[in-house]
Amino acid sequence: MSNGMSDAFVFFGATGDLAYKQIFPSLQDLIRDEGFNVPIIGVAKAGWNLEQLKARAKDSLENHGGLEQAAFEKMTSLLRYVDGDYGDAATFTELRKQLGDAKAPLHYLAVPPSLFGTVAKGLADSGCATNARVVVEKPFGHNLPTAKALNRTLHQFFPEENIYRIDHYLGKEPVQNILYTRFANPIFEPIWNREYVRSIQITMAENFGVSDRGKFYDETGALRDVVQNHMLQVLANLTMDPPTGEDHEAERDQKAALLKAVRPLTPDNVVRGQYSGYKKVEGVAPGSTVETFIAIKLYLDTWRWAGVPIYIRAGKVLPVTCMEAVVEFKRPPRETFHEVVPVRSSHMRMRVSPDISIGLGVRVKVPGERMVGQDVELSLKSHATEDMPPYQRLLGDAMRGNGELFARQDLVEAQWRIVQPILDNVTPVYTYEPCTWGPDETNQLIGADGPWINPMTAQEEGRSQAASKG
Ligand code: BG6
Repeated sequence: MSNGMSDAFVFFGATGDLAYKQIFPSLQDLIRDEGFNVPIIGVAKAGWNLEQLKARAKDSLENHGGLEQAAFEKMTSLLRYVDGDYGDAATFTELRKQLGDAKAPLHYLAVPPSLFGTVAKGLADSGCATNARVVVEKPFGHNLPTAKALNRTLHQFFPEENIYRIDHYLGKEPVQNILYTRFANPIFEPIWNREYVRSIQITMAENFGVSDRGKFYDETGALRDVVQNHMLQVLANLTMDPPTGEDHEAERDQKAALLKAVRPLTPDNVVRGQYSGYKKVEGVAPGSTVETFIAIKLYLDTWRWAGVPIYIRAGKVLPVTCMEAVVEFKRPPRETFHEVVPVRSSHMRMRVSPDISIGLGVRVKVPGERMVGQDVELSLKSHATEDMPPYQRLLGDAMRGNGELFARQDLVEAQWRIVQPILDNVTPVYTYEPCTWGPDETNQLIGADGPWINPMTAQEEGRSQAASKG
């Protein structure tokens, strides 16, 4: 089944963190904005009753986005609850009963991946998997072999077209805007290649630490947490070929082709860092060598991008919270005005967060007699992100059977293939101080392609705007 609206929304892990932070707020938004009106069934093993789940939903909304009375009342009227062990057939018999007349439910597995197989089997054995869609969360595996095993498990019970793997970056407005801007404006396509592009940098900086997620993070690290998924998806949007034809899979096909062309990483193209103080976070192992910062250098083995170095960085407790990609263009082939044009003057900056903005860096003449220039950035678009939250968009799409913004099996496996050779302790981990841009070794990694382009802090941005007005 790939078309038509799901007629029930079931979520496993109903008393957990993901439901609390994301699912209840998204359901309220879907009810308010899209008239969502199907049974909502929470499943968990918590010894709770329906009233407790309703209280949890209320608390969730009050703390995440705000409770809206009418939509909340509608949600509670649709809400049901099944309490039981996921390994117990009785749990699924009860679920089938609660589903009533529903013939095409959507099951959201907001549970650890180790339980996917158990829940999927329970759904299949009880008849709840028939005509059903299933939504799963990252991480999709811990490495390439486990990702493949996880996919095999899910495929025993659900065809690929009914599996929706969430990577919330794909639901973000500015991430889609990268694709939109590229393919809605033919002026970019002729220069979007090795002839004109010198290098690409993508930075995901967060100015906060691991706080209460120590245990999860210490089993994950920056590479698995955000690079293998979110950042490679952004890279794909930035570099993939335009989708062709009418096929609804055209976009994901091009994205898969790109990711399959990324050369697997080697240890000499990686620098890992860990912020000083990380080992003191609760849940982190005393001698942990898990990275909270990583910088990598990638190459794409395609005609379009051959030889163009691509640098990706991600880290916790850096000076700012910001994600942006900068495509740097080459210098002019000769100095027409007897002036040495800096290597850096022309670029396109696409910022994903905290605000959406697109900047075009160009060199313009300084008014006066001499033919000398200065670098300026034209801001094509810039506003605060007040768009639809990613989970609302993605859950709505999954309910409608629109899989375009979800990670397909081949995409996920291609992403693991890229990072597989450098997972875990293949390279040393260097300590860096909080509020810095990671270990010094990252400068050696970028070498003559550098320096790194650090997103500006709010103060720096204010200063630079004031200077350009003055
Ligand atoms: C999550 C990671 O997937 O993405 C977090 O687990 C990270 O560590 C988060 O902070 C970033 O997402 P966003 O939407 O806040 O940029």
